Amino acid sequence: MSEGKEYFVIDKKFLGDPNTEPLFPFHLYVYNPASQQYSTYLHANSPLIKDKRVFLEQIIDKGGKVAVSMKQKRTFLVHGDVKEEDIEDLVEEPVHELVLKREKMLKELEQKQAEGKFHFKKEFKEATTKKSGSFQVLIDQARLEIQTLSVTRSHTVSLAVYLAEHLLVEDNFINRVVAFSYHLAKSCGMDDDQAIGDIVCAAYLSHLGQTQVDFEYSHIPQLKMNGLQQKEFRKHPALSQHLIRKSGLLISERCNQLIVQHHERFDGNGYPDKKKGDHIEPLALVLGAASHILEFQTGRVTGTEVSMRAIINCFKNDAPMTGLEVEFGKVIYDNLLNMFEDENLSEAEGSSSDTEETKQAA
Ligand SMILES: [Fe+2]
Repeated sequence: MSEGKEYFVIDKKFLGDPNTEPLFPFHLYVYNPASQQYSTYLHANSPLIKDKRVFLEQIIDKGGKVAVSMKQKRTFLVHGDVKEEDIEDLVEEPVHELVLKREKMLKELEQKQAEGKFHFKKEFKEATTKKSGSFQVLIDQARLEIQTLSVTRSHTVSLAVYLAEHLLVEDNFINRVVAFSYHLAKSCGMDDDQAIGDIVCAAYLSHLGQTQVDFEYSHIPQLKMNGLQQKEFRKHPALSQHLIRKSGLLISERCNQLIVQHHERFDGNGYPDKKKGDHIEPLALVLGAASHILEFQTGRVTGTEVSMRAIINCFKNDAPMTGLEVEFGKVIYDNLLNMFEDENLSEAEGSSSDTEETKQAA
């Protein structure tokens, strides 16, 4: 894009007839990669003598840049009888389709917000009050918001946008984990584009390693595994990381760490490395909390399905339930309590942005 540029690069053919020593009504500049600046090489109305032309041609042949100031663009175009579209460096770069798609999603989100604010607590209560409650609204909201992340931020963020668009559609277990992780991270104030990109990708990829352990292990409730089964099952975070590295998939190092650490717990009783407290990535604890609560609810931990309301009451009343892990650190625990706080829910209280108090704890 020419907007904001001080110089535009020109091709050899614009250096005039090689058999003459032409005069140009504009200065010629040469780019210096060491200083990353353009410096004047030939002043306007000075003849381009043979030695100087050879030097300029060598620079261009070796990938260097010869340029004209944007202030003399019109003079250059008139002198050479050329149009802007004839100069490659003056042609506007087309806007990438992913950037256009993001702009569309931003407008869609803006329009949705204008129609009525999304109330996380209200929707979460709806989703968890009945046994057959649907997470679809929470998933749809997460999908829309994730699609507004900057696709030029990093590989991981653009992968998160892609996964949200193509996978975060129906109400299934993995999409519940992704949506719950997303809303919890946001509630905890860990909501910059990179953080959300990291946790979304990690939520989708953290159990890839389960495809490499005995099929039986993914079907035995975690508390009913014998020692050997548990040992094998607990390899899944490292196996997920191994598969991702082997595949060459580009994800950030933090996303990698979220995958490896999603079973680490704040008190040091997690696995695989028994990391403790601040040695654990906070987003790994967010993913760990969201995925564990949903695993517990669906019976993957104890073998018995439990209602989400029972889990919520357990958190609220600080009443332990066998197999239910709560060691996610104070910030995440407080934000979980805040998300679960739905008594006497009013329009104002239900706003997803009313978590400032707990955010500040972060
Ligand atoms: Fe896991």
